[in-house]
This record gives sequence, C-alpha cells and structure tokens, in this order.
Amino acid sequence: MKHRDVKLAPSILGADFARLGLQVAEAEKAGADRIHIDVMDGHFVPNLSMGAPIVASLRPITRLPLETHLMVSDPDLFLDEFAEAGSNSLIVHWEDNANLHRTVERVKALGKRVGVAINPATPASTLEEILQDIDQVLVMTVDPGFGHQLFISTTLPKIGRVRDMIERNNPACDLEVDGGINAETAPMVVRAGANVLVAGSAIFGDSQGIAAAVRRLRESAEVNKSPLPKGERTDLQ
Ligand code: DX5
Ligand code: ZN
Repeated sequence: MKHRDVKLAPSILGADFARLGLQVAEAEKAGADRIHIDVMDGHFVPNLSMGAPIVASLRPITRLPLETHLMVSDPDLFLDEFAEAGSNSLIVHWEDNANLHRTVERVKALGKRVGVAINPATPASTLEEILQDIDQVLVMTVDPGFGHQLFISTTLPKIGRVRDMIERNNPACDLEVDGGINAETAPMVVRAGANVLVAGSAIFGDSQGIAAAVRRLRESAEVNKSPLPKGERTDLQ
C-alpha cells in the first residue's frame, strides 16, 4: 500500500461559535493541520453560515493554514475579500460555474492555493480539464449545506477515480473529502485515496473533547497499520 500522510482539517461549522478562538487553538494544539471554514450563501446551498470577518478574526490566533470552502453562487465576488482576510486557500465548486478556469486563475493571481469541489452527484471526469491547474480537489461526501450529515458511501469509488486521475496528471494535488467523516468512515476514504480529511461534528462535537477527537480520528486514518477488511478492493491503495 502506498503511504500517504493524512492531514486533518477541522471544520469550524461544528464549533461552538461563542468559544471559537479557544476551540481553534485547541484543535491546533491537538495536531490539526488546517482549519476549514465553510461559507454558505443561502442560495448555492439552503443554509447561511459565515463570511470573511470570521477569517480575519481567526488569522491572528492560529498559525495553521485557513482554507475557505465557498458554497456560494458567485465565488468571484468574494475571492479578494477572503484573500485579504487571510485565507491561505480558496475552494470553489465546479457546479454552477460557467467560467471555472477564470475563477481558478484569479485565485492563483491572488497568491493563494486553489481547490475545486465536486458534489456527490458530480462525476470525477468533470475534473479532467482543470486538474492540472489546481492544488486540491475536494470530493463532497455529503450534499453540501449542513454539518452532521451521514456519509454517502457511493462516493468511495469516485474518490478512487479521482486518486487515479491525480496520480496520472498532478501527483502533488491534495485529495480532500468533506462530510460525515468520523473514526468509522476515515479509514474507508483513506483507503480509497483521500489524503486530507475535513471533520466538523466528529471533532468539535465529541463529548470527550477536541484533543481526544483529533487523536481518535488520526489513529483511525492510519490504515497502513491495520489489515484490509475482508473483500475490500485493493486496487485503490
Ligand atoms: C458541509 C460542509 C462541511 C461540514 C462537515 O456542507 O462543507 O465542511 O462542516 O461537517 P461534518 O463533519 O459534521 O459532516
Ligand atoms: Zn466544507
């Protein structure tokens, strides 16, 4: 099995906003690799969340990269604002973007890492013409819009297909997964080929606290150390 370091990206959508700074600091201390910020506009997804001021407030309190997941109808309107606020990477959706290449180039011109997200019903093949231009793919493992949803297991073979495309066309590209990731689903997505795991409720909603949750998630993602469950595909390792 090819070894890949797995990175954890706690999503603050699952945090207690009254104690946001403290919880982000706790996640950093516990060994999180990035902080994931979910931006929703009530139009691209049926929910509202947060905007650039949250990024600006978090910027001075953590050294971790801040990655901004833009679930908004017109991301081009907000790229500059989030870049100025201190986002290190901007993730935009493939869906509903008629000029994705332009959006990607704009993020690069701002000097930020760029990611492209695909929803559960969007095929891996849509990434073919943009993959060589980006730093990260985000495969949504739930329909975007809410935390605490159930992992959609039919996304697993798609993660494998995206991993194959990445190995062929842009091996440095991260493959991140987002939605329903916990200690049970983490080993499955890592085996399928993911190397960055977003987790909201599994980290900030854990009754034993953030540090214990990060530790458990990291241990569960170390699939190289555990045998393959019976019947699992081995051609995706
Ligand atoms: C969903 C968001 C996710 C969400 C994940 O639209 O993009 O980042 O916060 O939450 P959990 O980990 O609870 O599924
Ligand atoms: Zn997200």
